[in-house]
Amino acid sequence: MSGPLILGIETSCDETGVGVVRGGELLAHEVASSVDEHVRFGGVVPEIASRAHLLAMQPTLRRALAAADVDLGELDGIAVTAGPGLMGALVVGIGAAKSLAYATNKPLYGVNHLAGHVAVDILDHGPLPERSLALLVSGGHTSLLRVDDIARSITPIGATIDDAAGEAYDKVARVLGLAYPGGPVIDKAAAGGDPRAIRFPRGLTSPRDRERHRFDFSFSGLKTAVARWVEIAEVEGREVPVANVAASFQEAVADVLTAKAVDACRAEGVTDLVIGGGVAANSRLRSLLAERAGAAGIGVRRPRPGLCTDNGAMIAALGAEVVAAGLPPSGLEFGADSGLPV
Ligand code: KG4
Ligand code: ZN
Repeated sequence: MSGPLILGIETSCDETGVGVVRGGELLAHEVASSVDEHVRFGGVVPEIASRAHLLAMQPTLRRALAAADVDLGELDGIAVTAGPGLMGALVVGIGAAKSLAYATNKPLYGVNHLAGHVAVDILDHGPLPERSLALLVSGGHTSLLRVDDIARSITPIGATIDDAAGEAYDKVARVLGLAYPGGPVIDKAAAGGDPRAIRFPRGLTSPRDRERHRFDFSFSGLKTAVARWVEIAEVEGREVPVANVAASFQEAVADVLTAKAVDACRAEGVTDLVIGGGVAANSRLRSLLAERAGAAGIGVRRPRPGLCTDNGAMIAALGAEVVAAGLPPSGLEFGADSGLPV
């Protein structure tokens, strides 16, 4: 396969990711996570994440280049996450990328983390169709995006009005006394539970809510409902059936995400749906989406779970698309933007 040889650097949260791609082909990607250092706080501590990026950057970069068997001098460009994300964490990645670009005289591209979560699917399933819809579900974002051109034109058509789906997973895990991050732990616990045991609320799905928020999401009410359910069980001295609560919660999240994503595809006249972001690794979301989209004649593109969570390959993949589209490099004087819109 041919295409530009791009190095991608990702440091928006607690993962130091470095990836190398040639066009749409993944050559290598390495991730160093500081998640273990955040566990006892029940969430990411920005300053700890920044310090960890600083320590992990060089070894992760070396490992990725070695695994790809690529020298810095061979690169056609370097891509780095410019935002959104934690300011102090982004700055470490951007600083590293600028130094590399300056020393090697390679073009540097500051790219959007959210678009990267969508672009990464190219590495698993080839070029994106001319028009597609993306369901982006991560720890910080939950949105439906119309993707007309991954490098140039992405239009949000709906988003969460309160918590992100991943955030709800993390908070519900805490309520159930499970570890951080909650997504993978709840996914595992749910495997042994009954998803129909408890009927938890599906946010913004009533006919009235749908009038104003057809493609928007809300997970804060669901999170509160789970917390209340657990609290009542404890007050009444009943043992909390963790697997059933996890499975029922997971079902509520997957139900809303898949129903709204399929509805949005129909409304937009789009027949290809891409999922991305950490929650896209969720087993129930993946299976229910395949089922419902399949029944509606919509093709689903699901990147492998290891590429759904934050990584450098997604940034390299997006960088390769930006280069292929002929967009100009960012230069060495751009900053980090913690609230960068898609
Ligand atoms: O995309 P990501 O790695 O980082 C952000 O950009 O936010 O997403 C992290 C989120 C966390 O909230 C984590 O709990 C969730 O993705 N997550 C999952 C699974 N794996 C990670 N949620 C549900 N099921 C999973 N298997
Ligand atoms: Zn992410």
